[in-house]
Amino acid sequence: MRDYIFSPSFGNKPRNLIGRSNEMRALLEGLSSPPGSKERARLIIGQRGMGKTVLLLELAEYAKEHDYIVASPTVVSADMLDRILEKLGRDEEKKARISGGSVGILGFSAGIQTEKTAQPTRSFAYQLQDICDYAEKAGKGVLILVDEVQSGSEQLQKLIIAYQEMVGEGHNIAITLAGLPSAIAQTLNEHVLTFLNRASKMYLEPISIAEIEISLKESFRKLGIRLSDSEIAKAAEQTGGSPYMMQLIGHYLVVSASDDGELSPSGYEDAITIAKREFIDDICKTTISPLSERDMDFLLAMSTDEAETSMKDICDRLEVGSAYANRYKLRLIQSGVIAQRRRGYVEFAVPYLKDYLASISELS
Ligand SMILES: Nc1ncnc2c1ncn2[C@@H]1O[C@H](COP(=O)(O)OP(=O)(O)OP(=O)(O)O)[C@@H](O)[C@H]1O
Ligand SMILES: [Mg+2]
Repeated sequence: MRDYIFSPSFGNKPRNLIGRSNEMRALLEGLSSPPGSKERARLIIGQRGMGKTVLLLELAEYAKEHDYIVASPTVVSADMLDRILEKLGRDEEKKARISGGSVGILGFSAGIQTEKTAQPTRSFAYQLQDICDYAEKAGKGVLILVDEVQSGSEQLQKLIIAYQEMVGEGHNIAITLAGLPSAIAQTLNEHVLTFLNRASKMYLEPISIAEIEISLKESFRKLGIRLSDSEIAKAAEQTGGSPYMMQLIGHYLVVSASDDGELSPSGYEDAITIAKREFIDDICKTTISPLSERDMDFLLAMSTDEAETSMKDICDRLEVGSAYANRYKLRLIQSGVIAQRRRGYVEFAVPYLKDYLASISELS
């Protein structure tokens, strides 16, 4: 059957946004808080596929409709600052066109271009200030969205410094940055970016299984897929709360169904198996690829347990002292790979990572 609801990929706006209402509320409250308040500079932190880009896209859409000139999510890269200026210019131009103007009410997008050819040495901060001035005259704010934060980026440093200056001058500006836990942790350790440590942090936790179940049920109903309540409940459970896994499972269940919406038991099982395999390739393998051999030893020592592992067992299995094991524990927690939900115990924070590691250690 053709699938027009689920779309398992990265950085695409889902047809139905599941959960995240608290996160969206907090982001919108941040925008309406007074200029300069802590909530106007935000960090969205989450593992791969947890929906960071989706939240940025939702925020961009809302802000564009509510008197903000928006630089839509821009990935940290060598030309990030130019891209941000271009996007702010384009958004302003578009709004001016809709309201009947021709080049832009304030013409700052045109202004940026002239500025660039005539005076290539104008700093980013100078140009951003121009934009803030112009925006304010039109009764608008400026919102900058940055995706895939990387540590050690000079462009990011310049952006944060310019943002701080704009805040100092009382401009109506806001910024939201998103990144993986390890990239954000490394960025926060950079001396020049101490300002970011004061930004308000939002950790993207798994979405509730109950919310996923309700949404799956509704989507399958619309698509005409006939699954029992218990099959839908099991599918929701298997997502582990990952929105990406939800898209994968939903999609493969739909394409496995016959044109009249029937799914055989083996079609159902096959769909889940394919989804798991893709999730392991896209998420689990990329999550562990930057880890050191020692980190991997720690994770492998956890992979034989059913749910959580005691730190004492890890020390015994690795034949190391508790100070050593704790150091690796903290690193892995910071990277968002494991979590400590109660004292002295750790567990995997990424669905299916345990199964994947268990399968590797069986092979070796
Ligand atoms: N709240 C949500 N409801 C429904 N689908 C979602 C939700 N959040 C994310 N998705 C879907 O999950 C997939 C991954 O989302 P997204 O690309 O935003 O993740 P990410 O955290 O930015 O990942 P990465 O770290 O790899 O950039 C996409 O297909 C997206 O549409
Ligand atoms: Mg992303």
